[in-house]
Amino acid sequence: THQWRGLIKEYGDRLPVTASTPNITLLEGGTPLVPAQLLSERTGCDVYLKVEGANPTGSFKDRGMTMAISRAAEEGAQAVICASTGNTSASAAAYAVRAGMVCAVLVPQGKIALGKMGQALIHGAKILQVDGNFDDCLTLARDLSDKYPVALVNSVNPVRIEGQKTAAFEIVDALGDAPDIHVLPVGNAGNITAYWKGYQEYANDKLATRTPRMWGFQASGSAPIVNGAPVLEPKTIATAIRIGNPASWDYAIAARDESNGLIDKVTDRQILAAYRLLASKEGVFVEPASAASVAGLLQAVDQGLVDPGQRIVCTVTGNGLKDPGWAVEGAPQPTIIPIDATAAAERLGLL
Ligand code: F0G
Repeated sequence: THQWRGLIKEYGDRLPVTASTPNITLLEGGTPLVPAQLLSERTGCDVYLKVEGANPTGSFKDRGMTMAISRAAEEGAQAVICASTGNTSASAAAYAVRAGMVCAVLVPQGKIALGKMGQALIHGAKILQVDGNFDDCLTLARDLSDKYPVALVNSVNPVRIEGQKTAAFEIVDALGDAPDIHVLPVGNAGNITAYWKGYQEYANDKLATRTPRMWGFQASGSAPIVNGAPVLEPKTIATAIRIGNPASWDYAIAARDESNGLIDKVTDRQILAAYRLLASKEGVFVEPASAASVAGLLQAVDQGLVDPGQRIVCTVTGNGLKDPGWAVEGAPQPTIIPIDATAAAERLGLL
């Protein structure tokens, strides 16, 4: 029998670990690369969805967290801290449990999805809601980790990026080569940095013949990289990417420029349209921020930027169950019926 063994076992020779690094894992990675039927039709391309919501805590953050917590454990840390729009905190809290560590999280007050808050709580994290946005939380987390014995596990910690680059490895391993274009949402810009690193490593080691063009999409109310200036009060319904001053800004620009890529923005309306399309036409339920990748791809098609016949991978970063409010919002209330087959059949249009 064979079971996926988690990133450190599967890709350890490409990660900064040694035989003495503890393997703190929930068997993350090995996520589905699902062919997207409608998107392929609409683009004339072969479009795939890298479904990162299938990770143990429901987002791609688990890839970075197995590395960050394992290395923190190796260094003897007893407590970790992160700033988060929700997913990083959920992941850090779960992996800290596995390592027997205390986990502290700083989140922007009132701006994280209920499912993510629930995860951090049930895993026993110490949560502080900061009267500020994500960028303020990150400044505070860095400051605390400088002054107190607590290890920072945000993506400014380079081992987080190392873990996250394995998603690019999995895609090349599945497709036999790198895609032509890789599309993903951009918030703090760690993930676009990580994928670009992963694709470059595989190409350098001749495990791929090329690297893809990297296309990143920000929400239009939180688009500092596109605008060329920090956004002091970032706004978007996609709370995961409500970030005004990304820590990996320069790396994102490098990924864009070195790959002949693109970083652009999409509106909340486009994000919600892609969110509904993914669920209703592809059967894949993602959280709103994740749909920014697909919204961006569809926008690029409308702009004439997508030649047919290409292979395109969109990362959908987090599970729809994290933030289901947007699925219910605006949808009709299911009808109430008596316990009666005829009444049910009538309402279902079966008569
Ligand atoms: N999608 C989701 C679902 C996310 O949670 C995030 C980031 C991103 C996309 C953007 O990735 O920051 O690497 O560019 N979430 C972080 C958090 C900020 O705290 O969970 P990025």
